[in-house]
Amino acid sequence: MVMAISHSFRFARASLVHHSNGLKSFAFRIPVSSVSTLATKKKFTQPVASLLEFGGVKIAKDDVVRDDPTNNVPDPIFSKLGMQLHRRNQHPIGILKNAIYEYFDTNYPNKFDKFDDLCPIVSVKQNFDDVLVPADHVSRSYNDTYYIDPQTVLRCHTSAHQAELLSGGHNHFLVTGDVYRRDSIDSTHYPVFHQMEGVRVFSPEDWEASGLDGTAYAAEDLKKCLEGLARHLFGSVEMRWIDAYFPFTNPSYELEIYFKEKWLEVLGCGVTEQEILKRGGRSNNVAWAFGLGLERLAMVLFDIPDIRLFWSTDERFTSQDLWSSVPRSLTYSYFHAVFPGPIGDQIQAIFEAKSVLQLFYFGFPPCYKDMSFWINESFTENNLCEVVRGVAGDLVEEVQLIDNFTNKKGMTSHCYRIAYRSMERSLTDDEINELQWNVRDQVEKKLNVVLR
Ligand code: DAH
Repeated sequence: MVMAISHSFRFARASLVHHSNGLKSFAFRIPVSSVSTLATKKKFTQPVASLLEFGGVKIAKDDVVRDDPTNNVPDPIFSKLGMQLHRRNQHPIGILKNAIYEYFDTNYPNKFDKFDDLCPIVSVKQNFDDVLVPADHVSRSYNDTYYIDPQTVLRCHTSAHQAELLSGGHNHFLVTGDVYRRDSIDSTHYPVFHQMEGVRVFSPEDWEASGLDGTAYAAEDLKKCLEGLARHLFGSVEMRWIDAYFPFTNPSYELEIYFKEKWLEVLGCGVTEQEILKRGGRSNNVAWAFGLGLERLAMVLFDIPDIRLFWSTDERFTSQDLWSSVPRSLTYSYFHAVFPGPIGDQIQAIFEAKSVLQLFYFGFPPCYKDMSFWINESFTENNLCEVVRGVAGDLVEEVQLIDNFTNKKGMTSHCYRIAYRSMERSLTDDEINELQWNVRDQVEKKLNVVLR
C-alpha cells in the first residue's frame, strides 16, 4: 500500500483495484473447487501457544493456521494473536489507550463503554459486509487480508465490531484491539497493529433543539470531540479537517495536526451511514464514528523510530521506568521526569538532536542484501514480504523494490533490497548470509519465481 507514514486508512479510497508497484495483487485467489474447511492438514507440529482466550472465547492454533489454500495465516501471525499490547499499562500502546480513555472519562463521565478484549477472529460479514465495504473492494483480497477460511478473517480494522455493538444497544463505545493486514515491510508497517474505534449515537431530542438536522449536529459534535482529543494528546496544535471517503461514513473526514513541523494524519471519522444504523434496528438515530491507529500516534508522541520496537522484549524498551512517567503531551519534557536535575538536562540535549531510543537503535548498523528474480503473474510484494518475514522475523527492517524492467520477451524482473537490522544487537556476517540464503531459497520455492 502506498502510504505516507504508518497505517493510513485502508478504506479511505473508493478505488477497487490495488496497485502495488504497478502490479495487480490478487495472489491467493481461491480455486473454487478447493474450498473446503474440512480438508485441513496440520502445517506445524509445534504450537506457539496451545490455547488463547479472548473474553471467554477459546482458540486453538489449529483453528487459525491451516494448510489449506483458503487459509493464508502464517505461524508468526498466530503467535501475535494473544499478545494484546494494548492491555499492557506500561507499554506505549497501553499508555496511549489509557490517555485516550482519560479524555473520554473526563469529558463524558460514565458514558463510553470500553471494549478491549473482543476476539480478533471475526466473520467476513462483520469485517466487511456489516460496515458496507463493497463486494469488490481490494481490502477483501487474499493479498491484503488474513483469511482463516473463506468466511472468517483476522479483523483488519476495529470497525468490524461497530454493527454488533450498535444492534446490542450500545450508544457510546470505544473498541481497542489488535488488527491484522498483509502489507509491505518498512519502519512504519507491521502486519499486526492496534486501532481504537469510537462511536456515539444520538436521538432526535439531542439535535431537535439545536435547529440543525441530525447529520449536521453529529458532524459538529464529532469535530468538537476529536479536536479536544487531539489537544489532550498533542497540546495546543494547529489542526485541519480534510474531506475523505470511507464506506461506513458520510460525510467522512480526516483530522490532521501540525506537529514537529509536519502535517500528521491523526484519524479517520465521519457520520455513520444510515444503512448501518437501520440494519441495527436504530433507524431513528444518527451516529458518528472514528478510527485511529495507535502505533502511528505512539511513534510520533514517544519518538519511536521503528514499528518493530513495540514488539521488542529488550528490557530497555519494556522497562517500566522508560514509559510509565512519559508525560502525555510531549516527550520533550519526558527525560526530565525520568532523570530529574542536570542529568535530565544533558539527556534532553541529546534527545533534542535525536531521541535516546533512536540512539540505541541506530547504534546497530543495517546490512543490505539485494536479490533479483523474474516474477510471474501471481507475484505480489505482500507475498514476498510474508516469505521474508517468515525467515527473518523482526530482523528484517525494510524490503524495497530498487529495480524493475521488462525484457523483449515480456519477462519482468524485480530487484529487491532487503535491509536486515536488529534493534538489540549487532548481527554477524555469517548470520545475515545464512538468512539471505534461506530467504532466496524460500522465495524461489514459495513464490515460484526464477532467481537471477
Ligand atoms: N476503519 C478505518 C480503517 O481502518 C478507520 C476508520 C475511518 C474508522 C473512519 C471509522 C471511521 O470508524 O468512521 O482504515
